[in-house]
Amino acid sequence: MSKPGRQAEENVGTRQLIPIGGGKGGVGKTFVTANVATVLARQGLRVVVVDADLEGANLHTLLGVQDPPCSLADFVAQREDDLQKLTVETQIPNLSLIAATHAHIATPQPSQARRVQLLRGLRKLPADVVLMDLGAGIHPPVMDYFMVADHGLLVISPEPTSIENAYSFLRAAFYRRLRLAMASLDVRKLVSSAMDQRGDKNLQTPFDLLREVQAMDPESGARFVQTVRSFRPRLLMNDVQTAEDIRLGFSIRSVCKKYFGIDVEYLGYVNREREARDSVRSRVPLVDFAPESQGAAYLRRVASRLIEPEKK
Ligand SMILES: Nc1ncnc2c1ncn2[C@@H]1O[C@H](COP(=O)(O)OP(=O)(O)O)[C@@H](O)[C@H]1O
Ligand SMILES: [Mg+2]
Repeated sequence: MSKPGRQAEENVGTRQLIPIGGGKGGVGKTFVTANVATVLARQGLRVVVVDADLEGANLHTLLGVQDPPCSLADFVAQREDDLQKLTVETQIPNLSLIAATHAHIATPQPSQARRVQLLRGLRKLPADVVLMDLGAGIHPPVMDYFMVADHGLLVISPEPTSIENAYSFLRAAFYRRLRLAMASLDVRKLVSSAMDQRGDKNLQTPFDLLREVQAMDPESGARFVQTVRSFRPRLLMNDVQTAEDIRLGFSIRSVCKKYFGIDVEYLGYVNREREARDSVRSRVPLVDFAPESQGAAYLRRVASRLIEPEKK
């Protein structure tokens, strides 16, 4: 049993639910999740990490949990409704895991209704922080999980393929969020047609769309602006080797502002760490495996920024 954290007496569920995505596979989402979670748990926060990558479960391995007896797959298959019962302890005090092992090969993903229940259940967990490690791609489950917070974390690496996928990811998140926020069916239809990149030539950018929405219904236009403002994803550049790699984060930030009108916060970067691979092979998070390494120092900085009070 983990010791009671700051919030135990209040018993009102988790304070922060943070999805960690990034569009592309292999950029370090799971590595970052495992390490950030370890840092926060070592600080005494009660942390639950959820492996939402049902088609590529890895988080248990990075945390040294060999064969979790239960997992999110039991929730998906409706064998268990209580997420608390699906958590397993890790070797790190205060850090527990909902693994994603043993998913049904034919139907790994939860239905939309089940996803809503999942997110609701995660919010009720008695934890200070819940981190969700997302799979690659931009399919609806990933987008729904990312949308659960205004300030999800996007992990990218300084390669054109990763950057390309990050833009697709942000684009998908942006339009999906807008569509969900629009009450009028006609406006929703308009947003849907803007989601088709080969569609209406007059709806190529978010600004075109805003103009159309305002013309159709000023109230929806105001909500549009509000929805865009409240969406403030954060960016982590992983695996950096040069100053140019680091600067790339700022460029992405400017492009997002210019093209989508959204404020992306550049949370920081993590170097390409020589000891990272060995830490993965040893199944011990880098921050414990090589606490003196530069990578561990960057990851500790990222962890503290990640749970800073939300900026307005
Ligand atoms: N900053 C880093 N420095 C060196 N190697 C890294 C770094 N981040 C990740 N890796 C390596 O990349 C591998 C893939 O990362 P992973 O977190 O599994 O990617 P994802 O979850 O995005 O698919 C890790 O197992 C690790 O060996
Ligand atoms: Mg992963």
